[in-house]
Amino acid sequence: MKKVIIDCDPGIDDSLALLLALKSSELDVIGITICAGNVPVEIGGINAYRVLKMLNREDIPIYLGDNNPMRRDLVTAQDTHGDDGVGDILPKVEIPKDAIKLGAVDYLLDTLKEKENVSIIALGPMTNLAKAVERERDILKKAERIVSMGGAFRTNGNCSQVGEFNYWVDPESVNIVFENVDRPIELIPLDVTRKIVLTPNYREYLKQMKNDVAQFMYDITGFYVDFHWMQERTLGCVINDPLAVAYFIEPSLCSGILTHLECVETGRAMGQTLIDIGDFYRKTPNVFINTEVDEKKFFELFFNKIFPENKKDNELVLKGY
Ligand code: RIB
Ligand code: CA
Repeated sequence: MKKVIIDCDPGIDDSLALLLALKSSELDVIGITICAGNVPVEIGGINAYRVLKMLNREDIPIYLGDNNPMRRDLVTAQDTHGDDGVGDILPKVEIPKDAIKLGAVDYLLDTLKEKENVSIIALGPMTNLAKAVERERDILKKAERIVSMGGAFRTNGNCSQVGEFNYWVDPESVNIVFENVDRPIELIPLDVTRKIVLTPNYREYLKQMKNDVAQFMYDITGFYVDFHWMQERTLGCVINDPLAVAYFIEPSLCSGILTHLECVETGRAMGQTLIDIGDFYRKTPNVFINTEVDEKKFFELFFNKIFPENKKDNELVLKGY
């Protein structure tokens, strides 16, 4: 099992990613850190707890980061994920005392220093990681792998012509992180996640499964489907973050390019990831950017890890039954 810290901003697709990670025997999720992004950190913490409670994994600690990006005010994505961050449909949840703690950056620093072979799966803005680097410059060099969902290379942004939400919310943090690693960050950008669409067919399958986890996944994605149709005439919803978890487990799902990334911090192109595949600036590669994905193979892993007991039905549905 690989030890991972998941840094996330739950968020509907983050919640699906947490579910996949916790149902995957290859991963030992040792902690969850919450960054401000889709929702303010307090709401993100509650939503991470919802997933842990559903799977009886309240043993996993949740730590909140700061509610502000490195050098700008927070802009949330509650228009996309709902005010409560999970589709504004679930009942309120009681949070036991101490179930959610402060100190995400302290937790990252302490854990990376005390434990060996810990990886980070980053599913939101990079604020927590960057604040850890500001405290200890070389801290991320202790991580075994860093997989990040973010950025856009040969596709348009989802917050502007060029900005992808995670990197657009806090571009300064992206540069602090990418300038202070000694092995390439493995990037899962919109170029590949846009191919990961939870279609109406897949959602109907969740509804027909008649079990709590499937119902949860069906319920929280309704708001997200409505947003996708209204915003971009997509039928279904793009579930970005689960691909980062699936790729961590099975890198052969994707393929890509070793290159250099930096993020535009100001002006109309703020949040754009500049990918130097022409090697104009001869900089040391700091990113492996994934540009291709086998989406069928992803959904096979996604359904079989979360619902191993439904393997036969999974295969039928995946074949377009
Ligand atoms: O741009 C998509 C990313 O922004 C996803 O991680 C989504 O959860 C939001 O954080
Ligand atoms: Ca996210």
